[in-house]
Amino acid sequence: MEEPGRIHFLDLGAGQNPDRIKALAMRHPDRRIIAVDIHPLGDFEPLPPNAVYVSSNVLQYLKTLKEKSVQIANADFLLNEMPDKEIMELIRHIKKALAPNGRFYISEDRQNVEDIRRMLHQHGFSTRARELSAEEAMEPKTWFTQERIHHPHRWNESRKNMQVTWPVRIVAVKRQKR
Ligand SMILES: C[S@@+](CC[C@H](N)C(=O)[O-])C[C@H]1O[C@@H](n2cnc3c(N)ncnc32)[C@H](O)[C@@H]1O
Repeated sequence: MEEPGRIHFLDLGAGQNPDRIKALAMRHPDRRIIAVDIHPLGDFEPLPPNAVYVSSNVLQYLKTLKEKSVQIANADFLLNEMPDKEIMELIRHIKKALAPNGRFYISEDRQNVEDIRRMLHQHGFSTRARELSAEEAMEPKTWFTQERIHHPHRWNESRKNMQVTWPVRIVAVKRQKR
């Protein structure tokens, strides 16, 4: 078992479907997986013992974490729901919470990607970005990515005012200081 307090995968704005953390926790029973969303989880079967769902504002939750305790943080289609000021605050907290060489993965619409990368660079992250493949979009089982890629007509129907683009994955790395 990993060091107490250490989080292997932290999914921010995870949504109310626990399939992803459940699958990850079952595949890696020795790792701690945490999902955070402002909404409560609802009525699902119990999660494996190494997975936890926290109902909280992500900014409040991040303040409670130990420095350098998180290996991978993830946010799929969360940042487009937050004002820039809050995104900057979120990135600052994640930078503190990530272990050296820790990763912050972000999936977003293409039109938001360059602004987000700029904010990450301001906090000293190095980043790369690429379009998700259709196979990857199935693998981590996130509803938003799957709908966009595999059911674009259904998605466009339900979001008439939103311009939908193929999702892009940003990988931000907190480089170890030499
Ligand atoms: C577009 S959904 C994406 C859900 C999931 N990540 C996915 O890809 O299927 C955004 C989620 O972020 C959550 N959310 C938005 N702002 C939040 C905040 N400040 N703190 C915690 N959760 C938040 C919403 O409740 C919602 O479940």
